[in-house]
Amino acid sequence: MSVIELDDVVKRYESGAQTVTALKGVDFHADRGEMVTIIGPSGSGKSTMLNMIGLLDTPTEGTVHLDGRNVTGFTEDELTEERRTTLGFVFQDFHLLPMLSAVENVELPSVWDTSVDRRDRAIDLLKRVGLGDRLDHTPDELSGGQQQRVAIARSLINGPDILLMDEPTGNLDQDTGRTILEEVTRLKEEENIAVVAVTHDEQMLDYTDRTVRIVDGVIQS
Ligand SMILES: Nc1ncnc2c1ncn2[C@@H]1O[C@H](COP(=O)(O)OP(=O)(O)OP(=O)(O)O)[C@@H](O)[C@H]1O
Ligand SMILES: [Mg+2]
Repeated sequence: MSVIELDDVVKRYESGAQTVTALKGVDFHADRGEMVTIIGPSGSGKSTMLNMIGLLDTPTEGTVHLDGRNVTGFTEDELTEERRTTLGFVFQDFHLLPMLSAVENVELPSVWDTSVDRRDRAIDLLKRVGLGDRLDHTPDELSGGQQQRVAIARSLINGPDILLMDEPTGNLDQDTGRTILEEVTRLKEEENIAVVAVTHDEQMLDYTDRTVRIVDGVIQS
C-alpha cells in the first residue's frame, strides 16, 4: 500500500477574474523505502503538488489518501494533526530558529510530546547525520550543509512516514548536496520512509528511485 496517493487531483487558483489550473488531473503515489523526485519547468505545478502531498493545501477536485485513509474531507485541525504525526518537511533555506541550538531545533517539533526520550532521540538523530560534536551550536555557528543536516534530523523527530523536500540542495554547493542526498538515502532505508522531493537539481536524479515529470499541470508518462 502506498503511504501517499493522489487520485485525479485538480487544483485551480482564482485570482481576480483569472483562473489558473495548476494541476490538471494528477495521479501520484509513493511507497515506503522509495525516493520519488518530481521534476519540471518553472510554473509547471511542482510546489502545488508538494503542497497537496504535504496537506498544506486542499485539491479543488480529486482525492488524497495518506496511509490508506482518505484525508480529503479532513478539517483544518485534523490536517494539522496529520501533518505533525505523518509528515516531515525539509526546505531549501533550512528554516532553523537562530536562537536555538542544533539539539533544541531538532527537538522543537516534538515539544508537545511528554515522553522522556525526546532529547535522546534528537541527539541520536544528530549523531546519525554526523553532528554529534555540534549539538550545542546555533545555526550561525554551522555551515550550510550542517544546517541542512540539522533540518533533516528535525524532520524525522516525530517518526514520519513521508519526508517532503522542496529543493533541499538548492542552497548548497554540488559536493555538499551529494553528501546530503547520501544521508537522506541512508535514513530513508533505516527509517523505512517514503521521500518525495521537488528539484531543479539534476544530480538528485542519481539518488532517486523514481522520477515523475510534470509539464503544465500534467504528469508525463
Ligand atoms: N496562490 C496562487 N494563486 C494563483 N496562481 C498560483 C498560485 N500559486 C501558484 N500559482 C500558479 O500555478 C502554476 C503552478 O505554480 P507552482 O508554484 O506549483 O509551480 P512550480 O512548478 O513549483 O514552479 P517553480 O519551479 O518556479 O517553483 C503557475 O502558473 C503559478 O503561477
Ligand atoms: Mg515551486
